[in-house]
Amino acid sequence: MKTIDLRSDTVTQPTQAMRNAMANAEVGDDVYGDDPTINELETYAAQLVNKEAALFVPSGTMGNQLALMTHTQRGDEIITGAHSHIVIHEVGAIAVLSGANVRTISHPDDFITPAQLIRAIRSNDIHEPYSSVLSMENALSNGKVMPLNLMKENFEIADKNGLFVHLDGARLFNAAVALNVEVSDLTQYCDSVMFCLSKGLCAPIGSILAGSQDFIHRARKNRKLLGGGMRQAGFLAAAGLIALKEMRLRLHEDHENAKYLAQKLLDSGLVTLNIEDVQINMVFFDFIDSHFNHDDFSDYLLKNGVKINPDFPTYRFVTHYWVSKEDIDFVVDLIKHY
Ligand SMILES: Cc1ncc(COP(=O)(O)O)c(C=O)c1O
Repeated sequence: MKTIDLRSDTVTQPTQAMRNAMANAEVGDDVYGDDPTINELETYAAQLVNKEAALFVPSGTMGNQLALMTHTQRGDEIITGAHSHIVIHEVGAIAVLSGANVRTISHPDDFITPAQLIRAIRSNDIHEPYSSVLSMENALSNGKVMPLNLMKENFEIADKNGLFVHLDGARLFNAAVALNVEVSDLTQYCDSVMFCLSKGLCAPIGSILAGSQDFIHRARKNRKLLGGGMRQAGFLAAAGLIALKEMRLRLHEDHENAKYLAQKLLDSGLVTLNIEDVQINMVFFDFIDSHFNHDDFSDYLLKNGVKINPDFPTYRFVTHYWVSKEDIDFVVDLIKHY
């Protein structure tokens, strides 16, 4: 039985082209700096986001945490969204690795607005910590995309007040597609950016951290400190190059499929969702029926080959390269027959 996996875009398997490229990759010892495929990936990635340098890291979490660690001193304060990945989903790493304080901002869409940012930046009062980093996320984990003008204004305020700006761009290319802008239009409003190769872009492993030469030099040393010096990781970088050169260009299909899924769910009359909120490859919805049997729902789908996260009342279905329109038709039919 075919499996349709809607849990996340992190479940994407590498494509055949990636498997071939990995098998044939030219590799070297990256800690010595002589893995040609990693060097090519880092150069290409830096150019794509218009930064001086880039670093290949095993995961988005490591990329984010390296950035924060490299930008801060112990006791500094990082300003970020209350639901941001760096706060909620990175195991409290900021406390462990950076020893930094976190000041969170709440917003209905999880955006950060300039007015909120201004209020959150500390003064020179002797009692207060140094505000040293603003960390934004785009696209957000809630499936929304922060408008470019908010990023610009936040960046300018942060810059004026001496804060570094980090961008958690795990789904940076989805955000650029949704906003219909170049990815460098987004990354001009940050000092460092992390983006993932392993989500909708289908690479099996890996993320990129990009920024200035000096920043990446220090982040590379911190990566070594964390045990992230990866030797012949050019095998992985080979898939990463295909992710950036080819798979990036098809992300709009996942967004279209998410809208298609959302519309079909709405047409079923069973769910409630806001179609305006479907901005990338994620569909969030609730069942209208207050007696809906959530307990058996995910098991029922699984028995029919469909994997979802059993988090309710609000479900999240994610589209990606391995989910077709026919798969979506199949899933919605299954739901109608539940
Ligand atoms: C917004 C965001 N940032 C960071 C990450 C971390 O990436 P990884 O799972 O590669 O550590 C994720 C993972 O889903 C994410 O959604």
